[in-house]
Amino acid sequence: MPAHARPPATFIALHGTHSSLLLECPPHEAPLWRYWGPRLPDSAAAPALRATRALPSFMLDFDQPLTVLPSFGVGWFGQSALLAHRNGQDFAQAITACEIEWLTPGQSLVLHLNDAVAQLRIDLRLSLDPASDVLTLQTGITNLGAGALDVQWLAAATLPLPGQATQVRSYAGQHNHEFMLQTDTLSRSLWRRENRRGRTSHDCFPGAVVTTPGSTEHSGLVFGAHLAWSGNHQQSIEWLHDGQYQWQLGEWLAPGEGLLQPGEHLLTPEVVASCSMQGLNGLAANFHRELRARLNWPGGTMRPRPVHLNTWEAFYFDLEPTDVMALASAAAEVGIERFVLDDGWFQGRHNDRAGLGDWWTDTGKFPDGLAPLASHVNALGMEFGLWVEPEMVNPDSDLFRAHPDWALQIAGRALITGRHQLVLNIAHPPAADYLFEKLSALLHSLPIRYLKWDHNRDLTTAALAGGVGTAGYRVQVLAVYALLARLREAHPGVEIESCSGGGGRIDFAMLRHTHRVWGSDCIDALSRVDIQRGFGQFFPPEILGSHIGTAPAHTTGRSQSLAFRAAVAMTGHLGVELDVRLLSATMREQLGAWIGRYKAWREQIHHGQVWRGEGADSLVWQAHGDPEANNILLFVFRTAPSSHRYTPPLQLPMLDARARYRVQQLVAMDGDGALQSPAPFFSELLASGVDMDGAWLAQTGLPMPRATAETCFIVRLQRIEP
Ligand code: DGJ
Repeated sequence: MPAHARPPATFIALHGTHSSLLLECPPHEAPLWRYWGPRLPDSAAAPALRATRALPSFMLDFDQPLTVLPSFGVGWFGQSALLAHRNGQDFAQAITACEIEWLTPGQSLVLHLNDAVAQLRIDLRLSLDPASDVLTLQTGITNLGAGALDVQWLAAATLPLPGQATQVRSYAGQHNHEFMLQTDTLSRSLWRRENRRGRTSHDCFPGAVVTTPGSTEHSGLVFGAHLAWSGNHQQSIEWLHDGQYQWQLGEWLAPGEGLLQPGEHLLTPEVVASCSMQGLNGLAANFHRELRARLNWPGGTMRPRPVHLNTWEAFYFDLEPTDVMALASAAAEVGIERFVLDDGWFQGRHNDRAGLGDWWTDTGKFPDGLAPLASHVNALGMEFGLWVEPEMVNPDSDLFRAHPDWALQIAGRALITGRHQLVLNIAHPPAADYLFEKLSALLHSLPIRYLKWDHNRDLTTAALAGGVGTAGYRVQVLAVYALLARLREAHPGVEIESCSGGGGRIDFAMLRHTHRVWGSDCIDALSRVDIQRGFGQFFPPEILGSHIGTAPAHTTGRSQSLAFRAAVAMTGHLGVELDVRLLSATMREQLGAWIGRYKAWREQIHHGQVWRGEGADSLVWQAHGDPEANNILLFVFRTAPSSHRYTPPLQLPMLDARARYRVQQLVAMDGDGALQSPAPFFSELLASGVDMDGAWLAQTGLPMPRATAETCFIVRLQRIEP
């Protein structure tokens, strides 16, 4: 039908508290993306897009703007949201009909998009949560044709970004250094990140933040999106000829993974996205609110996050019952609330070369099993937690000897091990049943309140069992979600931590089934300042496992004061990962005091908003408080020696310029030589507190002490008037 003969378009508007989106729905097409950005009035209307765009020279005679499903078949030259074919045919899809189904009026809907020629249906669900301003999108495709449809790429979402988008902040990384910020400038070249490691990965977080000129941590327009998925993924940002960008995120499908027989359906992971006029901190607050609403806590609500003792860096594999019990006693004395027995407790596990798969207690190490230890831990008033790595198997294990075909492998090719282990095909029902039974037996026979669920290698040659040879990355991810859901249903009181060689599996989908993530195997506090900042862009502090380790740190060799290690760790979910028995009496007392502070402050750290920022002279700060910033707990980390004779004051832009605040330093810095020279202001700040104007603190700043590197200055700011 020629364009002028088409009936007029309808519009769909979704409004959050601070953001809106607008779609234009011309008949017989996929809806056009008209807007995603700061809140529009309820009555906002737009002229039909094509009426506003004159055709450029030497172009197609029909204008084809960005839609929610840009696809080849309409004459779209950009990245297509769908790449699929049916035995070489039906390669150019075009939507011929769109039906709108409202789920919650004004808030969430499904667009049912049909291609009558290529014989497929796309169902795109969109919801904008007014509470968090988070937009959730998810796409499904159904093969309505008579032959198999090979889907090579289906974007979970295609989002519009305005032309003033300039930079994209994504996260690279590796084992021991997750969430390394990488900032790229957007241009007419395609920006793309891909992950084919079969897990969320250390080195390519599935998401990014896009900034506009002038945006900062505290103000300005920024956009963020995250693919809630624990496997392979891909995202791209592409400049379009009308000056805006399209941002696509989705699962990277291995060849054949999207093969749909007639009538079959493929559902993408969800994309969670948001925009904020309050800069990076405003965006983070939106994601935090959304994730908090999704977490599925035992009993329905989060209990105060208990202080952990994790045995890994204290013992590694050398677990000896008397030592472990003695460590538990020492831990209880300093105030630990949950004792987690890490790797090394199960059959044949003396090092990382054997044992995975044999999930029963090694009676050589624990002749009476784990029950005496668990009772001892409980008698000391602590919960008992246990480490497992269910998706893996060592070739040197009873399980592998009995079922070598349960490992993901390609018939005829050598097995590729990683950390001496293979990945179990847990989509194979007998393998999943075996794990469920073994884990259930442990959970039934011992008072385990917490599982640390590890996953210590990337997937490769991940073909499904039986020598079929088809790729199993996708089904493996779905299978781990199913196994976790089955276990949680059978044992609803158990909390689970997602660990993957540190932070290799941190995403919103895994967090539907788990309650804590292990941010990194690096617990050097200085490295952690950086890692935790990146993490905090998407995830709230209460789910971040964050431990006080030894000095020197095992992974970096650097030494830091207990005060610095404790201050950095307590901005997440605090734990201790060292042999407390080896500390001097004074150090134990100090450790107990830090744990006491965490207990006093954790409600504040784990609820409400987090603001982050950087000051001059190597200062990095974060503040926790209510969204109105009436009561703020401020941590200022000095990450390097001062390069100024006088460190400039620290501006705190989230404070109310009309208010006055009582500012009080909470912990003295002179205990370990951290304070280099005194000044009267700081004596008063520590002794009684000082009253200061919000406007002064926001514009000029809070004076900073002269302190050594790798120290923390902790202050409370409380609104006193008006
Ligand atoms: C990797 C984890 O990140 C560590 O904390 C520890 O649990 C080891 N695995 C145990 O093998």
